[in-house]
Amino acid sequence: MAATYDDILAGLRLTIEAAPTHTDAIRLAVSSLKNQMPDYAWVGVYVLEGEELVLGPFLGKPSPHTRISLDAGICGAAARTKHTIIVDDVDTDPRYLACSLETRSEIVVPILRGSQVLGELDIDSDKKAAFGAADRDLLEAVAALLARKFPLE
Ligand code: SME
Repeated sequence: MAATYDDILAGLRLTIEAAPTHTDAIRLAVSSLKNQMPDYAWVGVYVLEGEELVLGPFLGKPSPHTRISLDAGICGAAARTKHTIIVDDVDTDPRYLACSLETRSEIVVPILRGSQVLGELDIDSDKKAAFGAADRDLLEAVAALLARKFPLE
């Protein structure tokens, strides 16, 4: 039987909490999500450095967007608004920065400590409207777990 969203989150919680550093936690979360969610074609984390989102660990095709300014893309919009953005059809969203020609839908979830943006989880799918409420809940929970691993400044 396939793992449920609750099973996946329970596993990720243990994995993330046991990771020695936030970078290890990100790497483990990325590989766990990519391996367990068949519709997640590209899974990556951008980390906020100054006014730019810098690509960290990812799995999927190499992206041309390794640094994204806060005023660009779905990624920039999610960081600016500090809210999850789901795009059911990337072809209809003028903010979309293409990473792969196969991508049809995307979810970007900010990693927040209070109101401070630390980074974001970015996931692309080759299927339209691949991300629903269960994906949002799972990924927002994962983002909260990851936020706790970032070093305090
Ligand atoms: N699609 C994103 C850019 C990152 S790639 O998907 C990896 C955006 O519009 O911001």
